[in-house]
Amino acid sequence: ALKVRAKVLEMNREAARFYYHMLTGDQGKGALAYLHGRGLTDKTITRFGLGYARDNWDDLLRHLQQKGFTPEEIISANLASRSQKGGAYDQFRNRIIFPIIDIRGNVVAFGGRNLGESGPKYLNSSETPVYNKSRNLYALNIAKATKEKRFILAEGYMDVVAIHQGGFDNAVASLGTALTSEQARMIASYTGEIVVSYDADEAGQKATKRAIGILEQAGLTVRVLKVEGAKDPDEFIKKYGSARFRMLLDGSSGATEYALSKLKTKYNLELPDGRVGYLKEACGLLASLKSPVERDVYAGRLSAQLNVQKQAIEEQVKGFIERDK
Ligand code: GTP
Ligand code: MN
Ligand code: MN
Ligand code: MN
Ligand code: MN
Repeated sequence: ALKVRAKVLEMNREAARFYYHMLTGDQGKGALAYLHGRGLTDKTITRFGLGYARDNWDDLLRHLQQKGFTPEEIISANLASRSQKGGAYDQFRNRIIFPIIDIRGNVVAFGGRNLGESGPKYLNSSETPVYNKSRNLYALNIAKATKEKRFILAEGYMDVVAIHQGGFDNAVASLGTALTSEQARMIASYTGEIVVSYDADEAGQKATKRAIGILEQAGLTVRVLKVEGAKDPDEFIKKYGSARFRMLLDGSSGATEYALSKLKTKYNLELPDGRVGYLKEACGLLASLKSPVERDVYAGRLSAQLNVQKQAIEEQVKGFIERDK
């Protein structure tokens, strides 16, 4: 098994090198222009070892076979797939390549962003002898050495790369899947605090809610950063610059504050019924908090904001706690 793993890692490294040379050579002019057009510098491209897979069926297959690997081995690394006729074809075609590097510096897998119209926008390596996607995080190999006291969790490869280029070396992303508890535990082994900065759309906000629970389970202090006026951190930094992103980061809200502000949008606080509805749900949320101090702080806040006796809020919260016992 050790030998199999070593072979796959060797193939992956060779593939990463090949894709990088494709991007930076004559063949890659269009792909490189695409990345420059998205604001990435050559330095960033090199730092992340980004690459390019041409729109051909066997570029990488032929290259790796020349290096002595068999089609079976190449398929086992998920760098190629078996065709119906029994041959093989390259897994990644007409895509920007994002090598996924583990904390030991091994290239364990790849993500590929479509440059064309057909097929999914992103394609990721499936599980191989060296890759389990729920036990890896994109850019953890870089973020693990950060001097910042917290990590940033983004949704996509491009977000992580853009955040890093903006001067933050502490961003990571889960890999084309929802965040797992294993990933949360990995993050918690490097830092005590994380800022979730997912996409501003509904899917991203739904995923944020889910991620908060998983990250808190792992013992992390969770903050939330929602980009305004852009669909994701990548677009935000491109539009407004990294200084503005730093401001959002410093002003990111705690998980409770975030949940309350989400809740607020559901109700019309001008109407008595709206205020009651919001307060009741908010009290339910406070009842679920573990810290009495945090509960007290937010009870005070709600009291001031909605002009309701703090005592009434406390009684409502207590009622919920009793009920849920
Ligand atoms: P750009 O469009 O290049 O800016 O990428 P993005 O990261 O903003 O894309 P998006 O918000 O659509 O997706 C976020 C992340 O989800 C991506 O980085 C991928 O990891 C994953 N993802 C997106 N589309 C697909 C897909 O079609 N298949 C799979 N498996 N994962 C996807
Ligand atoms: Mn060819
Ligand atoms: Mn998205
Ligand atoms: Mn994007
Ligand atoms: Mn996005």
